[in-house]
Amino acid sequence: MQEYDLVIRGGTVVTAADTVLADVGIVGEKIVAVALDLPRGAEEIDATGLLVMPGGIDSHVHLAQPSFGGPKMADGFETGTRSALAGGNTTVMPFALQPRGASLRESVMAYHKEADGQALCDYAFHMIVTNADSTVLEQELPALIADGYTSLKIFMTYEDMVLNDREILGVLDSARRHNALVMVHCEGYDAIRYMTERLELEGKTAPYYHGVSRPQSVEREATHRAISHAELAGARMMIVHVSGREPMEQIRWAQQRGIPILAETCTQYVSLEADDLAGLNMDESGGKYVCSPPPREKADWEAIWEGIRTGVFQTFSSDHCPFFYEGEDGKKNAKARTSFKWVPNGIPGVAVRMPILFSEGVRKGRITVNEFVALTSTNHARIYGLYPRKGSIAPGFDADIVLWDADREVTITQDLMQHGADYTPYEGMEVTGWPVMTMLRGRVAMRDDKVLASRGNGGFISRTEE
Ligand code: URP
Ligand code: ZN
Ligand code: ZN
Ligand code: ZN
Repeated sequence: MQEYDLVIRGGTVVTAADTVLADVGIVGEKIVAVALDLPRGAEEIDATGLLVMPGGIDSHVHLAQPSFGGPKMADGFETGTRSALAGGNTTVMPFALQPRGASLRESVMAYHKEADGQALCDYAFHMIVTNADSTVLEQELPALIADGYTSLKIFMTYEDMVLNDREILGVLDSARRHNALVMVHCEGYDAIRYMTERLELEGKTAPYYHGVSRPQSVEREATHRAISHAELAGARMMIVHVSGREPMEQIRWAQQRGIPILAETCTQYVSLEADDLAGLNMDESGGKYVCSPPPREKADWEAIWEGIRTGVFQTFSSDHCPFFYEGEDGKKNAKARTSFKWVPNGIPGVAVRMPILFSEGVRKGRITVNEFVALTSTNHARIYGLYPRKGSIAPGFDADIVLWDADREVTITQDLMQHGADYTPYEGMEVTGWPVMTMLRGRVAMRDDKVLASRGNGGFISRTEE
């Protein structure tokens, strides 16, 4: 009788804690052994010369999310999770957006319907709360948290999502009482409105001015305000998609005072810059880089690395939020509108998150390979309640594994992304280090850039405590 269904043999197993030469023994969907010289499995994969790491967990992606009144998102669950697998991920955490006036429960169920039978990798949902009335805060939110939806996002900007300070405090209070983590989009709504009106009066409507309309001071102010509210309410908080030095310093200040603030940064804040949005005409490519917060200056990349190295940031995500540039959904030029105000915010990137962090971080000596695993997988699992099922390579964990060629040199192209969008803002970027195989719960899901998983192979990961 064969002891293992599969043995991944001869690789270097990397976790957030250790780097060891070892084989990985898998039975069914689970890792059952990590040791040298395991007996032969029914199947064998030769990982000689490769890193064997936990599959990536991207805890910040948007799939099948309508942008209000605007164009359709370029990825649903099928293409979005295909792209995730192509980039070495095995779990994604998209958002279930509550349209204003809708019930939270109905909103979450609508996303389940979108995802059921469609996803190629595993997933769990964060809620987006846009309506913080007493029914939501006292009834709906507690009930959903009890059902395992233990993280939610709120916004300090966007017409259709913004919460005022009293509402933010209400959400934080409910989250504290019921033990959920609140993710906050920190940009000040009124400041952005003021700047947008002023720029439009001056005729400054090109995509470049998207960045000008929301400078770092706007993010810094909102970050500080969110932190103060977390302190007042005694609630845990995750500040998401931190873009540069100024908000990073606010978070570091809070952490040093013992306020329980977690923080996330994203691929674009160490690899794209404000000048990528340049070009005075809408048909130039600036619109391809419009996201919020916007990419900053190169000097800010170093501030983000400083935050990564010193532990200000626990997670590194993509904020994958894809829209068509030319427009394949019948709406031409979704990202190329008459004013930056109408350009949908968000860029695709779930497939490049791990390669860019590996190349810029590990290969350039800024972080260790163990820190890479923590930032791309383990910390996401721990913070969002997927641990100890996801996020490491040890007996009992799901066999979600990426085999990584640390020396492979790749030029990023649209073809490699395998997403629904018709472009990648990372086109032409050169990276060293690339996923050569992604395994989802013991099955090969991607090999040599070919996604082998099919719709429905991915499942919903419930976060209910057993
Ligand atoms: O521009 C972005 N990041 N759009 C996605 C929505 C969000 O705020 O995360
Ligand atoms: Zn309760
Ligand atoms: Zn956001
Ligand atoms: Zn986002």
